[in-house]
Amino acid sequence: MPRYIDESAERYVRAVGPDHDETHAAMAAFADEHDFPIIGPVAGGVLRSYAAARRAERVFEFGSGFGYSAYWLLQGMADDGEIVLTELDAEELEKGEEFLADAGEADRATFERGDALEIAQEYDGPFDVVLIDHQKSRYADAFELIREKLAPGGVVIADNVLYGGHDYHDSLAYVEGDGELPDDENARGIVRYLETVRSADGFQTSVIPVGSGLAVTVRA
Ligand SMILES: C[S@@+](CC[C@H](N)C(=O)[O-])C[C@H]1O[C@@H](n2cnc3c(N)ncnc32)[C@H](O)[C@@H]1O
Repeated sequence: MPRYIDESAERYVRAVGPDHDETHAAMAAFADEHDFPIIGPVAGGVLRSYAAARRAERVFEFGSGFGYSAYWLLQGMADDGEIVLTELDAEELEKGEEFLADAGEADRATFERGDALEIAQEYDGPFDVVLIDHQKSRYADAFELIREKLAPGGVVIADNVLYGGHDYHDSLAYVEGDGELPDDENARGIVRYLETVRSADGFQTSVIPVGSGLAVTVRA
């Protein structure tokens, strides 16, 4: 993966950032073994911080894999907080149930198999924190669907706004107003997402260049 900060800065941020506990270490080893794209410890620590700052009671994820990001969120949430995991792939979701059960967290998690956008329609708000980490071409649709279900002061965090199936360098000229939109579904999905959240009334967005890049959108 190309870098947006130099390698030593990235190593520094990693070294002084949050550590994996036993469950996260086992999940990361599983991800390595299966070449699965988890959000990683630095971005995971940011998720945990937002969940803790909100003392989050209700959290929703679009695209949970086997629960690595959900486990970071759970670590920051209120003791009685609950998270909804969504995942298309049954085996990944079952593995997530296994990991979270071993960590003693399964009773705070609801595991929903299927299309995250369809599942989101079945849930009422308010949510304190939402993670968007599924198909980039549908990030903007996910935001439109969830925005009114977000609590005041609630946060939507989208992963992969810099990297992950696309490279932000290809969209740089376009976002600076001096070039074409790249002809790539993922890059277009991310640019459309950022345009959507930045123009949403009553929401404030900042991009944090950690991991593959997080866009943090707060409902004012
Ligand atoms: C990048 S991974 C998620 C990683 C996870 N958030 C983490 O960091 O541990 C994206 C996941 O989204 C799932 N996915 C893709 N489209 C989906 C959809 N429409 N509904 C639910 N899950 C979806 C994929 O199967 C994949 O497991």
